[in-house]
Amino acid sequence: MKLLIYLVIIFHENMLVFICASNEENYLCSKTPTGSSNNNCENVNDTYTCYENIPAELPPNSTRVELHCIDPMSITNETFRGGGWERITYLRLFWNGQSSNTLSGGIFTGLKHLTALHINMVSLETLDKGVLDGLTNLTILNLDDCWQLNFNNFLDIMSNEDVLPNLHSLALRKTSSNNNYNVILGDRFWKILKRPVKSLDISEMKVNAYDFRILDTDDSFGRTLEIFNLSRISTFNVLNSFRSETRALQNLKAIDLSRIFNEGQRRDALFWCSPVTRSRPNVHDMRSIVNNTGWTKLLENVDTIYMDQMCGDAETLSPLIFQHIKNVSYCSEEGESVMSNLKQLYLRKNNIRVLDAEVRIDMLSSMEFIDFSENGLEYIHPVILKNFHSLKHLKLSNNRLGQMQLRNESNFVRLFRSLSYLEHIKLDNNGIYSIPPLTFAGNTRLTTLDLESNMITVLTCVLIEVPSLRHLNLRNNRLTIIQSSTIDCLTKIPSVEVAMGGNELTCQKCSDYSSVQSLLKAKALIADFDELRCETQTHVQVKVTTDLLTSLRFDCYRTGIIGATVASTVAFVSALCVGISLRRYKRKLQQREDRMVRVVANLYQGNGFAVYMIYSSVDEVFVRSAVVAPLNETLKHVVGVERDLVCIGDEQFRVGWNIYREIYRCMERSNVAVVVISEGFANSVFCDQELDIAMQLKKPVILLLKGDVDINQHSEHIQLLYRTNVRILFEYEGNKLVLKTTWDKICESFLQMG
Ligand SMILES: *[C@@H]1O[C@H](CO)[C@@H](O)[C@H](O)[C@H]1NC(C)=O
Ligand SMILES: *[C@@H]1O[C@H](CO)[C@@H](O)[C@H](O)[C@H]1NC(C)=O
Ligand SMILES: *[C@@H]1O[C@H](CO)[C@@H](O)[C@H](O)[C@H]1NC(C)=O
Ligand SMILES: *[C@@H]1O[C@H](CO)[C@@H](O)[C@H](O)[C@H]1NC(C)=O
Ligand SMILES: *[C@@H]1O[C@H](CO)[C@@H](O)[C@H](O)[C@H]1NC(C)=O
Ligand SMILES: *[C@@H]1O[C@H](CO)[C@@H](O)[C@H](O)[C@H]1NC(C)=O
Ligand SMILES: *[C@@H]1O[C@H](CO)[C@@H](O)[C@H](O)[C@H]1NC(C)=O
Ligand SMILES: *[C@@H]1O[C@H](CO)[C@@H](O)[C@H](O)[C@H]1NC(C)=O
Repeated sequence: MKLLIYLVIIFHENMLVFICASNEENYLCSKTPTGSSNNNCENVNDTYTCYENIPAELPPNSTRVELHCIDPMSITNETFRGGGWERITYLRLFWNGQSSNTLSGGIFTGLKHLTALHINMVSLETLDKGVLDGLTNLTILNLDDCWQLNFNNFLDIMSNEDVLPNLHSLALRKTSSNNNYNVILGDRFWKILKRPVKSLDISEMKVNAYDFRILDTDDSFGRTLEIFNLSRISTFNVLNSFRSETRALQNLKAIDLSRIFNEGQRRDALFWCSPVTRSRPNVHDMRSIVNNTGWTKLLENVDTIYMDQMCGDAETLSPLIFQHIKNVSYCSEEGESVMSNLKQLYLRKNNIRVLDAEVRIDMLSSMEFIDFSENGLEYIHPVILKNFHSLKHLKLSNNRLGQMQLRNESNFVRLFRSLSYLEHIKLDNNGIYSIPPLTFAGNTRLTTLDLESNMITVLTCVLIEVPSLRHLNLRNNRLTIIQSSTIDCLTKIPSVEVAMGGNELTCQKCSDYSSVQSLLKAKALIADFDELRCETQTHVQVKVTTDLLTSLRFDCYRTGIIGATVASTVAFVSALCVGISLRRYKRKLQQREDRMVRVVANLYQGNGFAVYMIYSSVDEVFVRSAVVAPLNETLKHVVGVERDLVCIGDEQFRVGWNIYREIYRCMERSNVAVVVISEGFANSVFCDQELDIAMQLKKPVILLLKGDVDINQHSEHIQLLYRTNVRILFEYEGNKLVLKTTWDKICESFLQMG
């Protein structure tokens, strides 16, 4: 059985296909000039453009002229003579009249400086002898859309080697395709390419037969050809067509073979395009030698091949499925290299669905660029990509590799592993839902990773695996929150740029606080930061700003505030009773909240503390485990910083400095002081001094009572505080000390007092 992957098509005998389509485009000479101008002419982009008339005089600075809707029969050997016509370098004649017509001989001889001539006339049928005479400087001839043109007539004119001796570019798109001319791409056609033609476009032509054999015998034909466009061409009589055997087009760099099986009915077309043969399961243990003759030889020096939509419209094509194919290889003969210059391959829109094939092809190792977009591709066997050692650029846009991720994640993770030269990869619109670790671990040179329009929910720090990355595109995914650890990791490589607009970020609750904070921290990193929007609790899309952060932080306190509100209902009712107006109460509440926002902002930006702990060393263990640890955590969460917000002497004082100065320094930077009152506290002179400093600095002091305390044993100062201020109580339940409120509420009060 013959199994070939798409690239191997070009090794096939007959590549051109019979098709039978009719031209139904409707050109209409209905364009009229927009501005008012003499003789229906105007300057459009440096080109003097006239409609339905040919000016005798051209403006002094014009060198480019377009004549629209001109009947070719009205052009004589005097039309383009004098009046500035001799200066013209570019001339385009456009006409879609219905009557058959002719261009007469000698009409362009006055255009001494013409380098580009475009004749796009649907109804042009014949060219008189001598029509292209005198155009020695012409380098571009474009006869696109001359559907009715008698091709043999054109070949006759070009058979005179003195005509257009400097031709570089010949465009014949659709030329002679309407009438059933006996178009043969044989000796007479190839002789045109004795001229220094670099670019040849015969796309959409309908050809009776082709014969390339003359290329073997005369290698002056096509010697200069660099770009050859054969897309959508069709051949009627393949049995009478012949390829060359030993010739290589020495300068050919790019060939376009797109759609060459368009609606094809030939054997090859059936093989590639028929629903029966497009599914190819279960091939094992096959080794084929690819010979360097025929088409492969002809294209030996090509570096770019276009093979888009090989079987016409992908929509109507059944999917190409290679399944369970193992141990299949294609290699060149010993010592021969086949297509060793091939660097770029386009295979777009071919409806290639499954490539579960362990195929090794030894002649593709020079490939640097592959475009496999828009195939609906659901699976690629990792072995296939191993063939492309040198690949730098891989485009897999608009496929369904998310399916592969679902079905065989281990192979998905290994898929790109072998591409150690890869620099750019496009995986947009693939339904990918995450980036599993190690997916790009082998791509140490990767600089661009495009994952736009997938379903990724988590931003991971791929930089760990790909430190070379410069552009990461995650636009239009499903990211809702951003982890601060990811941002920390990404910011380590300052030159990386992340695009992430169009994600459904949320900023609804206190729990989204750190996500928004991370985003703000990553502002310099996010290329499209200004486009970022997140959804608030009221389902409004807002920009990510520090104000948003503040309001979220506020939401974090609200949890606490609600708890406090219940507790203060009694106070509220009595406040009413004593005649305090509701408005005043609300204002007070507002002031408290404003103060809290200010305090939190200061803590967030500065290096101060929320709390200074005053306690006796006998309570060390209790304070550290039962008070400082939970308090510090709660404060850190509310304020949104990682550093400690509780000052404990032993940890914050600088070694070797005066102890009082250190107390002073730390107290000054704290919002409140908490005094832990226990049995042991009464005997601590040191604690008294700390308390004094707190008083001097006018810091609010809060008592924390540990267990049953006899307040009368303490200083007057503490007794006063005990009587007037709220206290934090730890009471014994059984023999365990339990906090009589929540740390959230405590934090809230601390932050409101600062
Ligand atoms: C003029 O040229 C510009 C850029 O080359 C192009 O975008 C524009 O469409 C042209 N205008 C016309 C009327 O052809
Ligand atoms: C040519 O001259 C006309 C007027 O004489 C002027 O409007 C036009 O901009 C000029 N074009 C160029 C390319 O200089
Ligand atoms: C144009 O053609 C006519 C004959 O058709 C000829 O008499 C005349 O000399 C030609 N003019 C030029 C400038 O070649
Ligand atoms: C070709 O162009 C050059 C300058 O661009 C000019 O000197 C020469 O006369 C032109 N040749 C012909 C045959 O007009
Ligand atoms: C070949 O010609 C077609 C039009 O017939 C065009 O769309 C395509 O871009 C051309 N290919 C290249 C490589 O220029
Ligand atoms: C692979 O196929 C070749 C035949 O092409 C066979 O000789 C070889 O044993 C096969 N290898 C394995 C591992 O099956
Ligand atoms: C390649 O050439 C060898 C002989 O050199 C021949 O046996 C083989 O069939 C050829 N392969 C193809 C695909 O034409
Ligand atoms: C994934 O592919 C590997 C290799 O082809 C195979 O061994 C494995 O069984 C596959 N796993 C699943 C879940 O299909």
